[in-house]
Amino acid sequence: MDLNHLNSALASLDAAERLKYICSQFESGVVFSTSLGQEDQVITHLIARQHLPVSVFTLDTGRLFQETYDLLDRTIARYKVQVNIFFPDASRVEAMVNEKGPNSFYESVENRKECCFIRKVEPLNRALKGARVWITGLRAEQSENRHNLSYAEWDGTHQLIKINPLLDWTLDQLLVFIEKENIPYNKLHDKGFPSIGCKPCTRAIEPGEDIRAGRWWWESSKKECGLHQETAK
Ligand code: ADX
Ligand code: SF4
Repeated sequence: MDLNHLNSALASLDAAERLKYICSQFESGVVFSTSLGQEDQVITHLIARQHLPVSVFTLDTGRLFQETYDLLDRTIARYKVQVNIFFPDASRVEAMVNEKGPNSFYESVENRKECCFIRKVEPLNRALKGARVWITGLRAEQSENRHNLSYAEWDGTHQLIKINPLLDWTLDQLLVFIEKENIPYNKLHDKGFPSIGCKPCTRAIEPGEDIRAGRWWWESSKKECGLHQETAK
């Protein structure tokens, strides 16, 4: 598959068409990771509405907000989709919390990355096994690191093509679409949480703050957890 060709084809389509096009190009092995964030809810909606053969999964870190679990329930009920839930390896979590305590992520960037690795990255690696295409809800506008992403990229780490169908969407576009289509969303979005991850590592933001300012707010380094590494165009 020629990535340049794929990118220019995707650029000329809208988000619903992009997902449909991907499924027409790849007969099997198309997966979508949902965090149940606003972007991902739109993608789930577009997949379900078009009955696309995409396998949907979420990474339950064990530290999510109750509101996120509630939304998972509401989403499954509304769209009748199967969402495969991947959980961290229990023995690794046990070893970490027994050695360092339940909140080690606040103590150092190294500890935080270890926790993200055990609770997110390792389960992600399992979830992506055998997949050929990985759909995500990344948007260029979300952060500096995400500005130079493409609609289609080669992910050398997982040896698959990564697709970002909402890459060019603005936050406003997203909110208007969610309201218009009555898409279920996390109640925390109405309480100042535009970007939601694990409960101990997410806080509400103040008006005017960056939309990812509430993620790992005590750190000044790049606000990424290792799920999305640099990929080739
Ligand atoms: S993160 O890197 O900061 O955690 P973010 O919350 O912006 O990521 O989500 C970006 C994309 O990563 C989502 O659209 C989704 O595809 C994927 N993702 C993030 N967290 C999860 C999760 N817990 N389960 C499944 N996919 C996730
Ligand atoms: Fe652990 Fe926080 Fe990363 Fe969640 S976001 S996996 S609790 S460090």
